[in-house]
Amino acid sequence: MTRRTVRIAMNGVTGRMGYRQHLVRSILAIREQGGLDLGGGDVLWPEPILVGRREHALRELAQRHGLEEWSTDLDAVLADGRTDVYFDAQVTSARVDALTKAIDAGKHVYTEKPTAADLAGALGLARRAREAGIRHGVVQDKIFLPGLLKLKRLVDGGFFGEILSVRGEFGYWVFEGDWQDAQRPSWNYRAQDGGGIVVDMFPHWEYVLHELFGRVTGVSAHVTTHVPRRWDENGKPYTATADDAAYGIFELEGGAVAQINSSWAVRVHRDELVEFQVDGTHGSAVAGLRECRVQHRSMTPKPVWNPDLPADHSFRDQWQRVPDNAVFDNGFKAQWELFLRHVYLDEPYHWDLLAGARGVQLAELGLRSSAEGRRFEVPELSL
Ligand SMILES: NC(=O)c1ccc[n+]([C@@H]2O[C@H](COP(=O)([O-])OP(=O)(O)OC[C@H]3O[C@@H](n4cnc5c(N)ncnc54)[C@H](O)[C@@H]3O)[C@@H](O)[C@H]2O)c1
Repeated sequence: MTRRTVRIAMNGVTGRMGYRQHLVRSILAIREQGGLDLGGGDVLWPEPILVGRREHALRELAQRHGLEEWSTDLDAVLADGRTDVYFDAQVTSARVDALTKAIDAGKHVYTEKPTAADLAGALGLARRAREAGIRHGVVQDKIFLPGLLKLKRLVDGGFFGEILSVRGEFGYWVFEGDWQDAQRPSWNYRAQDGGGIVVDMFPHWEYVLHELFGRVTGVSAHVTTHVPRRWDENGKPYTATADDAAYGIFELEGGAVAQINSSWAVRVHRDELVEFQVDGTHGSAVAGLRECRVQHRSMTPKPVWNPDLPADHSFRDQWQRVPDNAVFDNGFKAQWELFLRHVYLDEPYHWDLLAGARGVQLAELGLRSSAEGRRFEVPELSL
């Protein structure tokens, strides 16, 4: 057995996503399983270098997990010829600068979404990466969730017949931060710091819709800030300058339409924090993060509208649970493994900076649609 080490500079690991999903649930989980099996007796061993702004926080993290390397000097880490991959889970507003430096240093890059604050920045990164000849990937975790993998299985198996529509409902109540702490970082609610639910969630909806049902060809959205005043991590009040809810309509290649509500100002009366209902001529499905339920046309009840009588159907009971039929790994880890196989085995990988730019494009057009009260075509991107 040959063990090859891949040294990954991980920037933003003190944050929510960087720590939990990327460091602990992905990179450390790959180490716990003995590394990534590349076949032919080769095993890839990820060696994280924790990068950030606060030395004490990085040292504490490294000690907690028995890691040896951390640094507050990104330039030095990138100048080090032993660093193979740069990973970015910083706040969105810090991303373009750091990724640009990493690409210019010839590192392979893997990054959280959105890749940039605007389309020009996102395309600029994709072009730079292509010219530098490095490998690049963007987190598109939702399609690796068990619920959406089961939904994809239904699409691929022809369960739906012709797909007519998709209804997505995402969101939960994010506390204002005064009488109960907010459960998301305050920068999410300040436009000047890269916040907003459209830039956060439309990139996800772009690849979910694209990969499952077809490319988004048109968008109209109504975007708003329902909760205008919030309290930050220090209990200080601030004005929420970013949007916290978006009501979007997405036209899809092939003719289906998707309507997705995204909100941090909604209370959950659903089974999961995100759910997609897909209706097709032959059947329908409701998929969440983990579960997926179906109703075939042959099992579709015939309710008759009559408000004078109580409902005589238990509608939820008329759906069947789709079996797992597989063991599902953490979605972030699954995508990390595919990215590392792309880098080291040259396996195909299409969740790259151009794919990331499509997400940024949809967010940009969604915001413009709302601001101008117009529907926008979504042009196909190329480099
Ligand atoms: N894939 C997903 O499902 C998903 C979910 C949430 C967030 N995200 C993305 O991940 C990124 C990080 O989000 P998060 O929720 O982990 O944020 P967070 O605030 O918890 O973490 C941000 C990290 O960036 C660092 N940072 C660097 N420069 C900073 C600055 N100038 N100000 C503040 N922090 C700075 C922080 O120290 C911290 O490590 C964002 O780009 C966000 O869009 C992705």
